[in-house]
Amino acid sequence: MSKKLKVELKNLTKTFVTNKNDQVKAVDNINLTINPGEFVCLLGPSGCGKTTTLRMLAGFEIPTSGEIFIGDENVANLTPDKRDTAMVFQNYALFPHMNVYDNIAYGLKLQKLPKSEIQSRVDKILKLMKMEDFAKRVPSEMSGGQQQRVSLARALIMESGVLLFDEPLSNLDAKLRLHMRDEIRKIQKQVGISSIYVTHDQEEAMGLSDKVVIMKDGMIMQVGSPREIYQKPVNEFVAQFIGRANILDGKIVGKKGDNVLLDVHGVIYETEKTTGHEVGESVKFMVRPESFKLGETDFKAPVTKSVFMGSHHEYEVELFGKIFEISENNPMRKVTIEVGADLSFSMDPNSIHILEKE
Ligand SMILES: Nc1ncnc2c1ncn2[C@@H]1O[C@H](COP(=O)(O)OP(=O)(O)OP(=O)(O)O)[C@@H](O)[C@H]1O
Ligand SMILES: [Mg+2]
Repeated sequence: MSKKLKVELKNLTKTFVTNKNDQVKAVDNINLTINPGEFVCLLGPSGCGKTTTLRMLAGFEIPTSGEIFIGDENVANLTPDKRDTAMVFQNYALFPHMNVYDNIAYGLKLQKLPKSEIQSRVDKILKLMKMEDFAKRVPSEMSGGQQQRVSLARALIMESGVLLFDEPLSNLDAKLRLHMRDEIRKIQKQVGISSIYVTHDQEEAMGLSDKVVIMKDGMIMQVGSPREIYQKPVNEFVAQFIGRANILDGKIVGKKGDNVLLDVHGVIYETEKTTGHEVGESVKFMVRPESFKLGETDFKAPVTKSVFMGSHHEYEVELFGKIFEISENNPMRKVTIEVGADLSFSMDPNSIHILEKE
């Protein structure tokens, strides 16, 4: 049904001039490729340039410089109706006085397609979205999740080459958000349309994406699969932004094949090397809270926090002037260690990730 187009951003920059004549570089020379059929999330803190990037893709903003290729065409200066994109908005943006059927059919009516074709395409989408029973309802008669499904249907029916989403689930409650996330992913896979999805919810990005793009201050920090971004963040910003991370100091004291020997306050760990580091160098490395082994004796420190979280138990210990966050999954009959008592632990060498130099 879709055309599966490749999207390329080349040296894309957007500088806004405010009414006080200040210049704001919202997007700063970014380069990004979205392969045909791929689902890519733009993720980053508020103000990092996600929406601006998406709006340039849609044609609602014209770039200050750079190129946007959709398929083989540079669309950077074309109006929204001249490019092969469809957008799903945060606030659904449905027409309140039209029923579901007419909302979905709207774009096709504008194209003046024959009534019979419109009917069959709307019916097909309603079926795909499992919304056949809602065709006659108006938006105010539906839940937020149902409205968002209509909004997705309205974008899908245009059979565009690229689907754009700007925080489409942020108005929904947590449970519905989870459900809609799975629906979106399922339908996107079924339809195969190249998709770019903006969110500042890291779990959403992890759960949806083939590829996550981490942005900060208008720039791209890292592009990778959810696994790469979580396990091998390039720097402290990415490590801290995705999940929880302990950032610790160590020193590279030797090499062993493709690995390095890392001295962590007198304990030597053999771990995977990151490019650009030499023997003798002090480095920062990351260990996730779940990557400690409790009960082992490399380190020992007093517990400053001990909280039962259901699926896991969260500890904090103070050592070498830092707070270590340690989490242990929760099989039953495990002894928990209370605040004030000592916790003994080591790190899993396979889960140590040395950060690149900044
Ligand atoms: N029309 C505008 N005029 C001036 N500055 C703007 C304009 N639109 C956005 N900006 C600025 O550009 C930067 C990026 O904004 P953008 O909306 O792209 O961020 P975002 O990553 O989508 O953030 P959020 O997560 O809060 O939605 C911000 O500093 C913002 O203040
Ligand atoms: Mg935004």
